[in-house]
Amino acid sequence: MQISFRSAPDTASFRLVARIAEQDQLPGGLEPAAAQGASAARFTGKAGQVFETFVERDGTVVRLALVGVGKPGEDRSASLEKAGAALTAKYLTSGEDALALDLTGANLQPEDVASLLLGLRLRGWRHDAYRTRLTDEQKISLKQITVIGAPEGSEQVWATEQAVAAGVEFTRTLVAEPANIIYPESFVERCQQQFEGTGAQLVVLGEDEMRELGMGALLGVSQGSVREARLLAIKWMGGAQDNKPTVFVGKGVTFDTGGISIKPAGGMEDMKWDMGGAGAVAGAMLTLATRKAKANVIGVCGLVENMPDGNAQRPGDVVTTMSGQTVEVINTDAEGRLVLCDAITWVQQEFTPAAIVDLATLTGAMIIALGHEHGGLFSNNDGLADKLTAAGKASGDKLWRFPLSPAYDKLIDSPIADMKNVGPRWAGSITAAQYIQRFVENGTPWAHLDIAGMVWADKPGATWDKGATGFGVRLVDRFVRDNLEA
Ligand code: BES
Ligand code: MN
Ligand code: ZN
Repeated sequence: MQISFRSAPDTASFRLVARIAEQDQLPGGLEPAAAQGASAARFTGKAGQVFETFVERDGTVVRLALVGVGKPGEDRSASLEKAGAALTAKYLTSGEDALALDLTGANLQPEDVASLLLGLRLRGWRHDAYRTRLTDEQKISLKQITVIGAPEGSEQVWATEQAVAAGVEFTRTLVAEPANIIYPESFVERCQQQFEGTGAQLVVLGEDEMRELGMGALLGVSQGSVREARLLAIKWMGGAQDNKPTVFVGKGVTFDTGGISIKPAGGMEDMKWDMGGAGAVAGAMLTLATRKAKANVIGVCGLVENMPDGNAQRPGDVVTTMSGQTVEVINTDAEGRLVLCDAITWVQQEFTPAAIVDLATLTGAMIIALGHEHGGLFSNNDGLADKLTAAGKASGDKLWRFPLSPAYDKLIDSPIADMKNVGPRWAGSITAAQYIQRFVENGTPWAHLDIAGMVWADKPGATWDKGATGFGVRLVDRFVRDNLEA
């Protein structure tokens, strides 16, 4: 989707024109028939409501859309995004290829315009690569958005905000791709292509290097797969030289069969998006690098495929992690934590981070607890937890905090090794977090985000269609803006 700005307040060459309406307030200068039609259709201007009519202007018929942006208030940016997204949802396959967004007379700040456009663009993302027989009616027609009458400075704000859209779209693509296309090596290749010219530095570890480092847990997961594991670090050092980096670590299980503790067949295809944490980390890093964030941030992706095989690890196997701690692998389907623990030990050794935040589609139990409205947040540090919660609220990638405590931690003690990789049936998301916490050294501020319910949607949402949501990218970007760049 091309988005451009035009200074001339003239929509004459457009067949499709959109205007915005505040709650209970139609835009000024509307044709009387349009105004009457809107009220007859009970259009009130609530956020995301669209009213369409046809008006005659200078002898041509113009398709006019009014979109509501709701009441000015706290969730203004969310309402504006919703409005932009509603326009895209309505016109993406309408046959129209150009839309004029006429903001003349609207009471918007440049940030508001950027929110509107972000919603417009994000809702227009689709993954059509494998759909070879789409009819014309099914294909995307809307390609060009021209913004008219935007307040001064809007273009600059949008230039930054565009980086957010690019990051979310990259994440969605990685998440939506099937596991025969995206596996550890090809995930790395996609990143290498995507980050070219951004100034970010990519470091890739192969299996030999990981073996040398003693990453027995990560490699244990990978050993049943013919796809080789990778550890990818994406470094963006845009801050002061002596500032320790903040490190985001993503679970990148490119397919999770469960391994020998194999999952049931129904719905197993969903496990192509078990790399959603790593996908979010890669997308967020793309956003930061694209908008040249003034902060030191490193994104690390632990990339493996979890398969059953003659060479796969067995339930009961004991593996030695890079930290030296040993783990009894009770259930090979609790593989995400085995990948994360070695990645987290590595980042501490390699980067001495100021803080570590991991993102992972870690437990089905998280979906039972929170559904698809919040990601779960677990942390050893109240300040970090509060900042993440705030970033979640502000960005729309919402989080809800859960407890950690020694009593939960005890549940993963093992009779044969230092710990086991699963606890009892109850508190499954918490014991998973306790497991990860055992690898956090010297009280480093750390947070674990269990985003199992958030990376994929079965129905359209505010700024996404069904499918990959891109959850996490905006959260990380907002956290960095408000806490590391401020
Ligand atoms: N990737 C899954 C978690 C998951 C399940 C994410 C469904 C999204 C949707 C994870 O690797 C897993 O299998 N977890 C197990 C842990 C259990 C064996 C302790 C689970 O949640 O069942
Ligand atoms: Mn699993
Ligand atoms: Zn998994």
